[in-house]
Amino acid sequence: MILKFIKMLIPISVKKYIKFQIKQYKDISYEKYMKYTDSYYSKFIETDSLNYEILVNGVYEIKNVPGIVCEIGTRRGGSAKWIIDSLVGNDDLDRTFITIDPYGNIEYNHGDGDVGPKKSVVDYTNKMRNETIPYLYTYALDKLNNFIFFNLEDTEFFERYKDGIPVYSDEKGKKLVNEYSLVFFDGPHDYDSVYKEVVFFNERTPIGAIYVFDDVSDNYNHNLLENEILLNFGWTMLETSDRKISYKKTGI
Ligand SMILES: C[S@@+](CC[C@H](N)C(=O)[O-])C[C@H]1O[C@@H](n2cnc3c(N)ncnc32)[C@H](O)[C@@H]1O
Repeated sequence: MILKFIKMLIPISVKKYIKFQIKQYKDISYEKYMKYTDSYYSKFIETDSLNYEILVNGVYEIKNVPGIVCEIGTRRGGSAKWIIDSLVGNDDLDRTFITIDPYGNIEYNHGDGDVGPKKSVVDYTNKMRNETIPYLYTYALDKLNNFIFFNLEDTEFFERYKDGIPVYSDEKGKKLVNEYSLVFFDGPHDYDSVYKEVVFFNERTPIGAIYVFDDVSDNYNHNLLENEILLNFGWTMLETSDRKISYKKTGI
């Protein structure tokens, strides 16, 4: 009752001013939104390996090579961020960049060091997805023309998108794209899975395309993969290191 009476004593202009100030406080600008997103999510974003310079150099190689940039295995988005930053650094923004990861804490295939499987549950959970993907969308779409996260395993992606990915552009309309300029193989690390991935992309990559493989030392027999399918299908080694190897397509 008393409060009502006090409210009645406040002039309308003052009430309007207070309302305006409250609204101003609630509405945040785009710049503030980006700043808050960055400060909330950046603590979750990280990489889990070494030799990312090989991935960065690969991205810098594809400036005039047509096709999608594809990452298999997103985890906490650290490598995706490297890819986005490198595309920006190379002024290569008219690209579709896709990253594929099932999360869901499913069994992960590390490989047995040779050609066999070795599966265990790690911690690639949906919580991890939720802490990563909103940030990646905000970060990528602020910089690139097109970014898509596929919440799928590699095999599900191959089955559903074997005819290409529909890409929508404000200027160019709809286009079905079935060509890849760079693939970063960092999902399952057993021989069979990586072999199948390479087979899928081999017929969808033009001359000049780049492959980057992660964890090539201990998880699967990468030398065999190189001899069986990479060298025979026109791929030439570009750079090598403990963890990562890159190749360029120089012939078909
Ligand atoms: C080694 S981590 C990726 C690390 C990340 N690229 C980086 O460098 O920061 C492997 C990721 O592959 C995902 N993964 C597991 N099985 C997969 C599959 N069949 N297809 C695609 N991704 C898969 C896991 O959920 C995990 O997030």
